[in-house]
Amino acid sequence: MTQFSETELTAAVIRSFDDTPDPRAKFLLQELVKSLHDYVRKTNLTFEEWDYAIDFLTRTGQKCTDIRQEFILLSDVMGVSMLVDAVNHRDREGATETTVLGPFYVGEHKVTAHGTDISAELEGERMFVQSRVTDRGGKPLANVPVDVWHADDDGFYDSQKPTFATQGPSSRARFITDKDGRFFFRTIVPCSYPIPTDGPVGEMIHATKRPALRPAHVHFLVAAPGYQPLVTHVFIGGDPNIDKDVVFGVKDELIANIEKRTDPTMPDGKPSSGPWHLMTYEFRMKPGEGVAPKPLGVKASEAA
Ligand code: BEZ
Ligand code: FE
Repeated sequence: MTQFSETELTAAVIRSFDDTPDPRAKFLLQELVKSLHDYVRKTNLTFEEWDYAIDFLTRTGQKCTDIRQEFILLSDVMGVSMLVDAVNHRDREGATETTVLGPFYVGEHKVTAHGTDISAELEGERMFVQSRVTDRGGKPLANVPVDVWHADDDGFYDSQKPTFATQGPSSRARFITDKDGRFFFRTIVPCSYPIPTDGPVGEMIHATKRPALRPAHVHFLVAAPGYQPLVTHVFIGGDPNIDKDVVFGVKDELIANIEKRTDPTMPDGKPSSGPWHLMTYEFRMKPGEGVAPKPLGVKASEAA
């Protein structure tokens, strides 16, 4: 047949993938065609709307650089990232909950000594983070790399600043757990912040009157051999935007109440320069396999 009705067209495009050698690729492509065609039929998509969508996606791609990922941002604000996360982590019994990676897992995460202030050059309320990595039964996991990153006191990641290329990372590091599965560091209390809105994704968020905010959090990526990589955040309890996350990433279990302290020393016995906050959080790893994501801007061959 050379001419197709609306529904025959869908069937013909699905059939055109019948000989795809990889069965998973065949399934994904045929289901994608079904969903896209259903959408066009259901919405009676106009030429202007189709044209707008093509231009939007083109501009989304053009906004990407080695260290900026507008497509991840698009996936995040559409809830697709959290849905992919959900369908891949259906059973987390006893293991720490997961959430979005986000677009700011960028550049080198240098192995850093426990106790280091990873935001030494930044203004902000000081915070001591103490943590432990264990299996689901509480057995400590030693020698595990834990990547940490978060925004500054104004809500910007180091990679969003013009100085990133020359000054290198800030509020970003890798710690290796000790024999008791512990790691600890100093930093500042991050604040809630808007996602980048200077691109097409921000344009959509503004045009649809959605708040662009993410509640304050610290990102963690824990990669222990023999366990599923854990991509998660710890959210700062009490944040006024905790229920307004533009990427739908908050889970109750990931909210930590940070305690205000005035003790002259921090838990590692070293002096504090004034009042500080204490964040305590334990990560419980689920046995399994998986490839940890690589930071943007770092070639796979260079990433540890
Ligand atoms: C973030 O955590 O920084 C983030 C996550 C998703 C979209 C934008 C920002
Ligand atoms: Fe973040």
